[in-house]
Amino acid sequence: MDTFILLSCLLIQCFLMIITPTMSQQSIPFEGPRLSAHPDFKSFSDHGIKASSTSTSSSNTKFRTYYYKQTLDHFNYRPDSFITFNHRYVIDFQYWGGAKTDAPIFVNLGAEAPLELDMKDPGFLHEQAPKLKALIVFIEHRYYGQSVPFGSRQEAFMNASRLGYFTSTQALADYAEVILHVKKMLMAERSPVVVFGASYGGMLASWFRLKYPHVAMGALASSAPILYFDDLVPADGGYYAVVSRDFKAVSQSCHNTIAQSWLEITELAKKPNGLQQLSRLFNTCSPLKSATVLKTDLISMYASAAQYNRAPVYRVNRICEAIDGAPKGTSVLEKVYAAVVAYDSGTNVSCYNIGGYSPPSETTKGWSWQRCSDMVMPIGQGRNATMFPYSPFDLQDFMNTCYSEYGVYPRPHWIVTEFDGHDIDLVLKKFGSNIIFSNGLKDPWSNGGVLHNISDSIVAVTTTEGSHCLDLLYSSSDDPIWVIKQRATEIEIIKGWIREYNLMHGIN
Ligand SMILES: *[C@@H]1O[C@H](CO)[C@@H](O)[C@H](O)[C@H]1NC(C)=O
Ligand SMILES: *[C@@H]1O[C@H](CO)[C@@H](O)[C@H](O)[C@H]1NC(C)=O
Ligand SMILES: *[C@@H]1O[C@H](CO)[C@@H](O)[C@H](O)[C@H]1NC(C)=O
Ligand SMILES: *[C@@H]1O[C@H](CO)[C@@H](O)[C@H](O)[C@H]1NC(C)=O
Repeated sequence: MDTFILLSCLLIQCFLMIITPTMSQQSIPFEGPRLSAHPDFKSFSDHGIKASSTSTSSSNTKFRTYYYKQTLDHFNYRPDSFITFNHRYVIDFQYWGGAKTDAPIFVNLGAEAPLELDMKDPGFLHEQAPKLKALIVFIEHRYYGQSVPFGSRQEAFMNASRLGYFTSTQALADYAEVILHVKKMLMAERSPVVVFGASYGGMLASWFRLKYPHVAMGALASSAPILYFDDLVPADGGYYAVVSRDFKAVSQSCHNTIAQSWLEITELAKKPNGLQQLSRLFNTCSPLKSATVLKTDLISMYASAAQYNRAPVYRVNRICEAIDGAPKGTSVLEKVYAAVVAYDSGTNVSCYNIGGYSPPSETTKGWSWQRCSDMVMPIGQGRNATMFPYSPFDLQDFMNTCYSEYGVYPRPHWIVTEFDGHDIDLVLKKFGSNIIFSNGLKDPWSNGGVLHNISDSIVAVTTTEGSHCLDLLYSSSDDPIWVIKQRATEIEIIKGWIREYNLMHGIN
């Protein structure tokens, strides 16, 4: 069974599940690295979520929750299309300058998570809104949280007839309706709207600006790998190639030890009592059923460490310190176990809880469907993923697995057909405006991102050392200077858009 990456910027419950025949719940065909601002890898809990949630709750927040009567299917007129569901969104009024001023509306486009999780991460919005007297609106993505059609999650996820309305294009249309509704409700039809999103949410933000330019005058798309589809294979080999590069940059010998470990795991597992020995060596909470289970978990650990390598705990460095710092004579597998312990240190684990086996989160279930419908990202461990076992993406295999799970085939070419991706420079230079693509180049997703400036107003704001979605998170005293600068650049650009918009619309 292949393993895959989950793309999500705004989710918490995102440890990587491993597919096993023992799972009684709906199985999850695709897992892997997450598109998520925050990891929550197994027992992993001390990575800064606390800081952001404190900031959210300690400030004098005035969030109000609303429900919009959302149309199930925006794109045809069959009777089923007219079914509606309650679409949740939240408004924070506390900084707003009001409809008659030049105050903007900041809209966070929900990603593959319930709204509560979407609201936790984007400190950037909360911190910049007071300076610009902005209204903040958070909109949930359909089929997540409370914004689920057909009465309940269970009903909505029953089969492909129900899940078929769960697409990125429907979600964008939902956002357009909600934003226009909010503007009307607040008599703020002329106020400038800027959409924000992180990771998958960032892809949505950039696509929203291109599809609904009359609704949003600008977009900040953080760590949005819009060029990771179809035949737009990243030049340097993809997600796992960057993970390998990140480790190599910290320590060549650490990288080499990890590279060596896969074969050793395989060989040991083949021996009589090999799995027992592996279980003992890795202090697993329950006996290992296969070497693959262990390898899959280790791969996701390294991926997560690279994707979220940031203050206060740089986990790539921590893993490599454990591996390189092992006493002379320590075996390769013992070193890898030391890495597992180091990765989890700070949390209270007495054994290596491989796979976790808590029930799959709604993000896990929802993203699995999304990957099997329109979000077909060809992520594999190719030749440049030097630290990992060779396991390239196999589209046919992917399609078949999706079909057996959902009874429908994914559409691997649809995203590029709908939103483009080829010759994006030439196309967007003449056609688009007001999009910031922000990336940290250490983020394995960055190689599917837009990394250079396309025009004066379609710009890439990158940092060499940055990780996934770092710019949109709350600022903290641990922030390196380059992320402080990155955020300052972004807000200056956004202010420029707003000034121009207000001039054009005679607002002052
Ligand atoms: C999905 O379930 C609904 C409700 O039970 C049913 O009406 C529909 O025919 C099912 N669709 C498929 C493709 O099985
Ligand atoms: C590996 O990376 C190099 C340099 O970045 C690139 O030119 C090459 O195409 C990549 N190979 C694969 C198989 O992706
Ligand atoms: C951690 O584990 C130890 C020993 O099992 C226990 O006494 C302690 O209460 C745990 N601490 C936390 C914060 O869970
Ligand atoms: C793109 O332009 C912006 C704004 O002028 C600038 O801050 C940024 O450094 C440029 N990005 C790149 C990758 O050159």
